[in-house]
Amino acid sequence: AMAAAGCPVSANAAAFDPFGEAYQADPPEAVRWSREEEPVFYSPEIGYWVVTRYDDVKAVFRDNVLFSPSIALEKITPVSEEATATLAKYGYAMNRTLVNEDEPEHMPRRRALMEPFTPEHLAGHEPMVRKLTREYVDRFVDAGKADLVDEMLWEVPLTVALHFLGVPEEDMETLRRYSIAHTVNTWGRPSPEEQVAVAEAVGKFWQFAGTVVEKLRQDPSGPGWMPFSIRAQREQPDVITDSYLHSIMMAGIVAAHETTANAAANAIKLLLENRSVWEELCADPALIPNAVEECLRHSGSVAAWRRLVTADTTIGGVPIPRGAKLLIVNSSANRDERHFDNADAFDIRRENASDHLTFGYGSHQCMGKNLARMELQIFLEELTTRLPHLELVPDQEFTYLPNTSFRGPDHLWVQWDPSANPERSDR
Ligand code: HEM
Repeated sequence: AMAAAGCPVSANAAAFDPFGEAYQADPPEAVRWSREEEPVFYSPEIGYWVVTRYDDVKAVFRDNVLFSPSIALEKITPVSEEATATLAKYGYAMNRTLVNEDEPEHMPRRRALMEPFTPEHLAGHEPMVRKLTREYVDRFVDAGKADLVDEMLWEVPLTVALHFLGVPEEDMETLRRYSIAHTVNTWGRPSPEEQVAVAEAVGKFWQFAGTVVEKLRQDPSGPGWMPFSIRAQREQPDVITDSYLHSIMMAGIVAAHETTANAAANAIKLLLENRSVWEELCADPALIPNAVEECLRHSGSVAAWRRLVTADTTIGGVPIPRGAKLLIVNSSANRDERHFDNADAFDIRRENASDHLTFGYGSHQCMGKNLARMELQIFLEELTTRLPHLELVPDQEFTYLPNTSFRGPDHLWVQWDPSANPERSDR
């Protein structure tokens, strides 16, 4: 607790525990006291300074030199020696990708790799996303009951990511298996045994990602982000290095998968808990795009992000020393009354809903945000059209993987009367 030396820690700050029940149940609610009374505080439990108000969180995101993203993927729980040895056995060398890369390296890479994320390029993926979504819904549409996470929301974003990356069809199943085995433990508190099991999965995932890159190198003329990046490497070999290509092959899957799966589960849960809003979407699909933004604001899938302070500074008037680590709670910023009127209310017509910080902000802002938005919109379009009478299975308890940052229910049970399915009765 070096950073706290000499500065008083309030009782609330001392009690803050992002692995505790309150934060796991509802992150913005758990730090409401902070938004109101002590918006920047030191947490002895995790050794991080915690930032909870909209303007402060945005200011931290905005300055990626003073607030370096280099620790964004660092393990919050130190890695055991055994797990480190396991990773070494697989030659695991994932280091900087984009999300945790400092300037001046980051921006030239981001620019060189951006084109596949532009709306014109993304439009080409729309039929693939819709087809996949419809196929998954087909599997359970007559069942009357489903766990939307297990039966759709977990797998569709993963498969979309593999298509977006341009992974050859024949390698998709293997990557899907490794990726599913690799539960994101970066943000959690795994036991030493779990760490070794995770390290095995991560090591295999890493190795296989490398072989897929090598295969794509043989003929990088095809569609997708990886072939595009391999072609970009020929133009700018110093900007896009070999190890970098290997890293984004694996990191790209992780970045695109759980974030989107969790966002979709949170959104559908929130909409069904607010049944009249769901019915409005069924009646008027034009409301869906802004509803997606409001879901991302109110119940986003990234609850908090991290930065490292590179020079003595102040945040919200609080002096923060060089070397301090920051937990910036974007889910709390999204509920800040100073920026959003009636911030706790779920309002799909909210005019500034898209000001949310769930995708971060500034030069590292999520590159996949428009792909994620497209997926979420298509999920809602298909479900409201084909299963408008969907409802939550009553009295289910929602559980969440304990961690600081990635947030979504482990399961989402829904039910409906299949004999009332409109697409069927229309035929
Ligand atoms: C970066 C959230 C989906 C690719 C980020 C960051 C956040 C985030 C918080 C860090 C932003 C910052 O530091 O300012 C999300 C959420 C998603 C999502 C909530 C879904 C709802 C995706 C998808 C892809 C993707 C589908 C890829 C196809 C990336 C990349 C970066 C990034 C490449 C690094 C950008 C950079 O550092 O320059 N995302 N993401 N994300 N995301 Fe996403």
